[in-house]
Amino acid sequence: MISKASAPGKVILFGEHFVVYGIKAILCAIDKRVTVTAEKIPENKIIIKSNIGELEVSLNKSMNEISSPLKPFVYLANKMIKKYNQSEGIKIYVKSEIPSGVGLGSSSACCVAGAAAISKLFEKTSKEKILELAIEAERTIFQNTSGADCTVCTFGGLMEYDKEKGFSQIKSEPNFHLVIANSNIEHSTEVVVSNVKQFKEKNEEKFSIMCQKELELVNRVKIMLKNNDLQGLGKCMKDNQKFLEIIGISNEKLRKMIEKAENSSFGAKITGAGGGGCIIALSDESNLEKIISELKMNDYECFSVKIDFKGLDTF
Ligand code: MEV
Repeated sequence: MISKASAPGKVILFGEHFVVYGIKAILCAIDKRVTVTAEKIPENKIIIKSNIGELEVSLNKSMNEISSPLKPFVYLANKMIKKYNQSEGIKIYVKSEIPSGVGLGSSSACCVAGAAAISKLFEKTSKEKILELAIEAERTIFQNTSGADCTVCTFGGLMEYDKEKGFSQIKSEPNFHLVIANSNIEHSTEVVVSNVKQFKEKNEEKFSIMCQKELELVNRVKIMLKNNDLQGLGKCMKDNQKFLEIIGISNEKLRKMIEKAENSSFGAKITGAGGGGCIIALSDESNLEKIISELKMNDYECFSVKIDFKGLDTF
């Protein structure tokens, strides 16, 4: 038997990093996907083939000995094999359209699609259970995840996410486009999140004031999204970016990219962990081409994305 699942990548529109400390974030899934195919095999192994690397481990290998970014797949396969007392192995194929390590949710999409495809070999599961499994798998490479990325990759759409309370979909028909520009500087989310933790520990009062302001900003954003207020949203992106600069996740290249994108967009900011990765710029139909050509003129790799409303898909 072969099972297959796909999950979208994501961008964080507002609230990355602060979401780890209990502040709400606004995210959306994007129309770039990871597809995972899984099949049971007679060999005593877990074999992973992907366009982001390959891995082959025996069933009894300890998780502590694995340092590959493909580790979540091994966790998922082992968990199911143990739960169902199976003695054979699993082969997993991963095909990703999402650039990895640049803040677009490629590893979360892998965890979600991986959890769905692998568990489907053994049982019928709800999206909620798959999300739980995906977050467990993600914690094997990033212990302190807020769970935001896996949640939006599972359910898709535009959502508000709270680490304690979970998510709620934002019911609006936004008429904006997002341009993503990639700095091509790979980052480790775990390292950047741990640097922000150090910043917080040295600047408790400053950080807590920013958390309060970020929360107010997110609450304003929710109204603007419902009203399609692109000017207002763009201004909030600029304000959010100021906080991201203060907590130290920006750099010279990202600042230059944001400056260029701001010339013709409503606003731009880093998306995701930062320290490298991508920026997003907000546009409508009228300025989309202009932003892209301005960024391309400066040799920045960029593309536009639409919101993915489907989320996890199994077939
Ligand atoms: C990474 O995409 C988002 C962060 O807020 C981390 C997290 O929410 O787990 C930086």
